[in-house]
Amino acid sequence: MIEIKTPSELESMRKASRVVAQVLLKLESYVKAGMTTADVDKFAEAQIRARGAKPAFLGYRGYPATVCVSINEEIVHGIPSPKRLIKEGDIVSLDLGAVVEGFYGDAAITVAIGKVSADARRLMDVTRESLERAISVVKAGARLGDVSWAVQQYAEGRGMGVVKEFTGHGIGRHMHEDPSIPNYGRPGSGPLLKAGMTLAIEPMLCLGDAGVIVKDDGWTAVSADGSLAAHYEHTVAVTEDGCEVLSRA
Ligand code: MF3
Ligand code: CO
Repeated sequence: MIEIKTPSELESMRKASRVVAQVLLKLESYVKAGMTTADVDKFAEAQIRARGAKPAFLGYRGYPATVCVSINEEIVHGIPSPKRLIKEGDIVSLDLGAVVEGFYGDAAITVAIGKVSADARRLMDVTRESLERAISVVKAGARLGDVSWAVQQYAEGRGMGVVKEFTGHGIGRHMHEDPSIPNYGRPGSGPLLKAGMTLAIEPMLCLGDAGVIVKDDGWTAVSADGSLAAHYEHTVAVTEDGCEVLSRA
C-alpha cells in the first residue's frame, strides 16, 4: 500500500528534507583530502542536531553512524571510520537522512575531492542527470516503471552500469515505505502515482559492471569488479502536474 500524505504530514517532510539538503550542502564544501570519514560523520551529526533534527540512519538496523560515506568503488552504506582517510582524486558519496516531527527526509550526493579522472567526472554527471530525468517524469497518473525506466535508459544509454541490488523507496513516517523503486524497469508498468505520495529516488551507477559485493562489516557495498560508483538521491512529493523536490536546498 502506498500512503498518501496529508498537507500537514508533507509540511513535516519538507522540514526534514530541507535539513538534509542544507547539511549536504555544508558537507559538500567541508569534505577535503586528509580528513577521515569519521570527521565527516561528526560534522554531519552536529549540523543535523543544530537544526533541531535527529539523524535518521543512526541505530537503524544497527547502523552505527549519521551519514554513509562511500568512496570510489564503494557504492553505498560505507561506515565512517577514524581509520579511513579521504584522498585527492577520490569520489565520495554522502548519503544522509534526518527526522523532524516524526517524518523522514533522505538524500545523497557524490562529491569530487580535488581533481578527479574524466571517467569519474562523467560517472558523477550521468548519475546526477539520471536522477533529474527520473524526477522529471514523476507526476500523478504516471507509473512507477516510467521513473525506473528514465534512470535505466539514460544511464545505460551512456554506458554506465545500473546497480540492481539496491533501490529507492517510499518514505514518510518510516525511512523505508512502499513502493520499492528499482533503477530499472519498463515504462507503463508498476503502480500508478498519485498526488501526495512521497518517494526517495536514488540511482546508483557504476563505470563498469554493476554487480555488488557486501563487505565483512555487513554494510559497505562495493562494485564486484572494483569499478567506480556514484549515488544521488532526492526525496520528492508527487503533485498533480509533476513533483516537489523536498530535498532541494
Ligand atoms: N539512503 C539509504 C537508504 O535509503 C540510507 C540507508 S543507510 C542506513 O537505504 F544505514 F540507514 F541503512
Ligand atoms: Co534512501
